[in-house]
Amino acid sequence: MYVPKPLEDRVTIPYLKQLKQDGEKFACLTAYDFSFARLLEDCGVEVVLVGDSLGMVIQGHETTIPVTLDDIAYHGRAVAAGLDNALLMLDMPFGSLNSPQQALDNASELIKHTEAQVVKLEGWKSQLEIVESLAHFGIATCAHLGLQPQMVHKMGGYKVQGKDKAVADRMLATARDLEAAGTDLLLLECVPAALAAEITAALEIPVIGIGAGADVDGQILVLQDVLNLTAGKKPKFSKNFIAGEASIQDAIRCYVREVKHGEFPDASHSFS
Ligand code: KIV
Repeated sequence: MYVPKPLEDRVTIPYLKQLKQDGEKFACLTAYDFSFARLLEDCGVEVVLVGDSLGMVIQGHETTIPVTLDDIAYHGRAVAAGLDNALLMLDMPFGSLNSPQQALDNASELIKHTEAQVVKLEGWKSQLEIVESLAHFGIATCAHLGLQPQMVHKMGGYKVQGKDKAVADRMLATARDLEAAGTDLLLLECVPAALAAEITAALEIPVIGIGAGADVDGQILVLQDVLNLTAGKKPKFSKNFIAGEASIQDAIRCYVREVKHGEFPDASHSFS
């Protein structure tokens, strides 16, 4: 039985690729400050994302759109201070990658400021060009397909993406193109489980899912959802891990254990 424990070695992209090859799942969570970053790492979380979800769960906005580069830099620095071994990934916020050059300049600044290993980016057609440009300059990226919260208005709401065959085929083709362009990781958000499984099997790079079923390589959730701190209606893909646990640490260890065992997400937290 897997017992979550503090990470002993630095988590790198090759390490995550090795986990994928070995068929071992990995656990990711968001964090926005030093104390939680340290706690997550101590509980065995392998990847910590300073997500632009901070716009909603820290700043109280309705969307992620108002988040600035300075916000990500500030929270990124605080989280970096709490991590010794977990891989640190930062979201590139809305408006920070309107051209490959702007993306390169902003990603370079963020990485210099925080020493993050990976930047995650959303984007329509621009994603391919930007991944290629960042890879050219040695910056590791996580591309993001499926529901892209920064494009909520263009997408017409927070909806599952890829139910339609034509959209699913396009997503698979784009995922292959992004891998060929040099992305190191792919995140799939709110995608039918069968499509996410097909994309994961088709790629060599590790695929992280949120609302993408159990057959991806790693899982991620927003910390506040895991700890049942988010007000209002909870997304179907999230789960309250603190229910029945004695402490925040126990809740995080429970999340890590369920991800590692392939118990989370089950069908009730996935889309078909
Ligand atoms: O901003 C964020 O926290 C994210 C996760 C939901 C994957 O992008």
